[in-house]
Amino acid sequence: MEASESAAEARVRKLFDETEIARRVKELAREIARAMPPEPVLVGLLKGSFVFMADLIRALDREGRAPRVEFMRLSSYGHGRESSRDVRLLGEPPADLEGREVLLIDDILDTGHTFATAKAVLARSGAKRVLTCVLVDKPSRREIDIAADLVGFTVADLFVVGYGIDYAERYRHLPYIGTID
Ligand code: IMP
Ligand code: MG
Repeated sequence: MEASESAAEARVRKLFDETEIARRVKELAREIARAMPPEPVLVGLLKGSFVFMADLIRALDREGRAPRVEFMRLSSYGHGRESSRDVRLLGEPPADLEGREVLLIDDILDTGHTFATAKAVLARSGAKRVLTCVLVDKPSRREIDIAADLVGFTVADLFVVGYGIDYAERYRHLPYIGTID
């Protein structure tokens, strides 16, 4: 057994490795650079988007862009693998979005409840335009008619972990995206 292969991680089946993720992040940064002004405001949803955000802002820098970085935290009353349908903003939304072009970023678009709530919050902020980006889209799971403008990877009805994405606060540290049974 390799040092990094703990008993818990042994159950993870790899879907997208570090190289694939890096390539996709670069492509997404190019698309964002094309679609948005030089200083877009990126609003990531905690905690799941933090690794994706960290890579995306540096990929945007390589495209000559200077993104502002903000985060929002939404409550999730769901436990385990079930998404909550009762999603609320915790704390204040980012300040000074008036007239700005904003990119909402999340790790996963599943039923759509989280994204819909976050979009509604940003729509009330006075932003000039709100675009959306998710790392992993699971369209077959949707309960709300909502789509992301930019999608990293599309998967079937799988439970994914790694690269910031957790199952019960575990697996966020994996450098790749995988699925657990
Ligand atoms: P939605 O509100 O159902 O679209 O769910 C979005 C949120 O549920 C994401 O931000 C994740 O926190 C969580 N989630 C949904 N699917 C998964 C998954 O496959 N792995 C880990 N978290 C997930
Ligand atoms: Mg999340």
